[in-house]
Amino acid sequence: MTPMIFDSHAHYDSGQFDEDRDEILNSMQENGVGTIVNSAADWDSVTEVVELAEKYPFVYAAVGLHPDEVGDLDEERFAYLKAQCQKEKVVAVGEIGLDYYWDNESHDVQKKWFIRQLELARELDLPVIIHSRDAAEDTLKIMKEHGQGLRGVIHCFSYSKELAREYVKMGFYIGVGGVVTFKNGKKLKEIVEEIPLERILLETDCPYLAPVPFRGKRNSSLYIPYIAEEIANLKGVTYEEVVAQTELNAKKLFGII
Ligand code: NI
Repeated sequence: MTPMIFDSHAHYDSGQFDEDRDEILNSMQENGVGTIVNSAADWDSVTEVVELAEKYPFVYAAVGLHPDEVGDLDEERFAYLKAQCQKEKVVAVGEIGLDYYWDNESHDVQKKWFIRQLELARELDLPVIIHSRDAAEDTLKIMKEHGQGLRGVIHCFSYSKELAREYVKMGFYIGVGGVVTFKNGKKLKEIVEEIPLERILLETDCPYLAPVPFRGKRNSSLYIPYIAEEIANLKGVTYEEVVAQTELNAKKLFGII
């Protein structure tokens, strides 16, 4: 089979796609995008990502609450979230983690629900999609204490080379998106040069973080070639190799045949 792009992190339930969601998703396959994992973030998306995945055969869902949104959780809602995680097209718990940049919720509340969602992933034997911003130390600590043996991806990786190495050693993948094309994306470029291609996943985080030359515009999986091209340049391999290997990586991680 011809290798196709695997976008491991998107948000097509976002209101920014209300005008043309079906149109844009229907154009994916003819443009070389083979598979998309659409990740939940806020409470409404816990329902919406599953609906979207049920509608499109090539769209899968991750279900979980983003650290900025965990204040909306309680036990009753957590039970619903768990039930959603058990739906057929759900391939991961995510996105979950810590965000001390926006600091929307207290660190204690963020940590509590991060740990609960890691435990949920373990219970259901699902991979995790980790969001971590300005919270390197606490994230690593929690991953060491509660993430042992779990598999997953550190999405939109924004930390040091040393930390990337550490997560790769723990068996995790590194999610690489539009930032790798930015002029100020030097740190991520160095990480891409260093870690094996077998540990990288392509991602958009669309509608956010569009790659150059679309930086600041609405992002979509159709722009992934700009990210894959940059990774190919950095690693001195072909574009086709990047697409093929990252597709293999993602399919393996999410258990998609
Ligand atoms: Ni995201």
